[in-house]
Parts: sequence; structure tokens; C-alpha cells
Amino acid sequence: MAERRAFVTGHPIAHSRSPKIHGHWLAQYGIDGSYQAIDVALADFARFLKSIGAGGYRGGNVTIPHKEAAFAGVARRDHAAEQIGAVNTLWLEDGVLWGGNTDGHGFAANLDDHAPGWAANGPAVVLGAGGASRAVIHALKQRGIGDIRIVNRTLARAQELADRFGAGVSAHGAGAVGELLSDAGLLVNTTALGMHGNEALAADPAGLPGHAIVTDIVYMPLETPLLAAARTRGLKTVDGLGMLLHQAVPGFELWFGQKPEVTPELRRIIVADIEAH
Ligand code: ATR
Repeated sequence: MAERRAFVTGHPIAHSRSPKIHGHWLAQYGIDGSYQAIDVALADFARFLKSIGAGGYRGGNVTIPHKEAAFAGVARRDHAAEQIGAVNTLWLEDGVLWGGNTDGHGFAANLDDHAPGWAANGPAVVLGAGGASRAVIHALKQRGIGDIRIVNRTLARAQELADRFGAGVSAHGAGAVGELLSDAGLLVNTTALGMHGNEALAADPAGLPGHAIVTDIVYMPLETPLLAAARTRGLKTVDGLGMLLHQAVPGFELWFGQKPEVTPELRRIIVADIEAH
């Protein structure tokens, strides 16, 4: 059988960790396949989508800034992509180009790994109302969390998301966060606050009950200021790296026919890569 081929495309793409993740799995399972980073400029993306089959690819991942263009450009979309409004995974099925979104799956699977039972812990507070927040809210709804509170600097963006996701999802400005945390079971940061060189905390985990879980989808640094503050307070914390690893699983299975495992060894490899850069 011919080599199975997949890709990740974005612009820029050089810093993507996806080739390391998929390359590790290809070697681990002894699969005759390749996974290649392809830089595609915005203006060329529509043409790139049409060339996937002819290029011998079974599919691939899509990252910034192409996730919305991929959503618009595929022939069919899965339920998660429809809900999130963005596509991060492409695959060909009988010549038809499908688009899915595995970010919400990655988010939930990371918590399943590191905080089992998390979905039964009570109301969730989500900081941020951008693309990443949509994937998180989709996952929270899928797991049956009935009280999801979006907190955002710009209230109108939070309100847009609350309207989009409907019952059980509410929108709040930053000033309300203290009160919203007081009975929450889960706090999720989806904003860039807490990345290297970034400024103050949007929410103080000291206001959470003792049983609350705190997670950040930012994984550089691995322990963000929010996670550090939560740990000091004695709360359960989960870093964002597992979301990156788990979002890769469904694509690998689709293209290469093997469901891969997220192992401590894979995590160590990617942590070393992050620390080296
Ligand atoms: P992503 O796709 O990564 O979620 P995004 O769509 O640009 O990125 O969304 C960024 C989120 O971080 C938004 O919720 C943004 O708040 P606004 O909607 O008010 O812009 C939030 N954010 C970014 N910088 C921020 C800051 N300095 N203070 C508070 N919130 C910030």
C-alpha cells in the first residue's frame, strides 16, 4: 500500500508541535506514513483545499489563521465543527472533503485524564469569548454542564456566545467574576492572559470553593499565573498541554487507521520541545 500522507497547515506554521506529535505516533505504531507542515498564505487557502486529494493526502490539521476558511470551504462538516464554527481537522471520505473540530474533544479528554469526574463538579466559569472559548463551551455542554458562565472584557462578545449556545449559558462582564466564582466547580481560562510577558489575572482563584478545578488552555508556560495561584490555594489544577495532545487523536485515527494513545512519554517529548524553544 502507498504511504499514507497527512499535513498541518497554517500561516506561519514553523512552530507547530503537531509534526512532533504525529511523527511520534507514526514511529510508535510502525505506520508507513508521513505528516508534514505546509505553510499556506491566506490568499492561497481555498486553492490548497481543492488540491488535497490530488496531492495524495488523506487529510490534515488546520490551524491559525485558516480555521474559519476551512469551515467555509469543506463539503461536509461534523457536529462539533458546526457548533464551534471552525474546522481544525480535514479528511477525505469517498472523495468528499470533510471538516471536523477536535478542540472540544481535546479539552474534555485532558480533564478526563487529570481530573476524573470533573463534569459533575458544579457550575463552570469560562474566561474569554474568542475561538478557543467556543470549543470549550461546546465541550462543557456536551458533557452536560448545565450552568456555564462566560466572563469577558467585552460583554457583547460573551453575549453573542451565550446566544449561540442557548439554555444554560450566560454572559457576564469582568466585574462580575468574584461573585460567579463563589459557587463554581470549574474555572477555565481561554484568554492569552498569563502567557509569557502578559499582565494581571482576570480572576482570583482564591474566590473559588475548595473542591473547584482550575484549568488553562494556554500551555506556554505550562504553569500559568492562574494555575500557580490556584495551586497555592490548594485547588486541583490541570495544565493545557493535554488538550493539544488529545485534539490530535481523532485526526491520526482517521488518516492512519490506528487510535493513538496520549502517554506520559509523548508528554515528556513535547515538554522538552517547549522548553528548548
Ligand atoms: P482565541 O481564538 O485564542 O480565543 P480571540 O478570538 O482573539 O483568540 O479571543 C481572545 C480572548 O481573550 C477574548 O475573549 C479577549 O477579550 P475581548 O473579547 O474583550 O477582546 C480576551 N483578551 C485578550 N486580551 C485581553 C486582555 N488584555 N484583558 C482581558 N481579556 C483579554
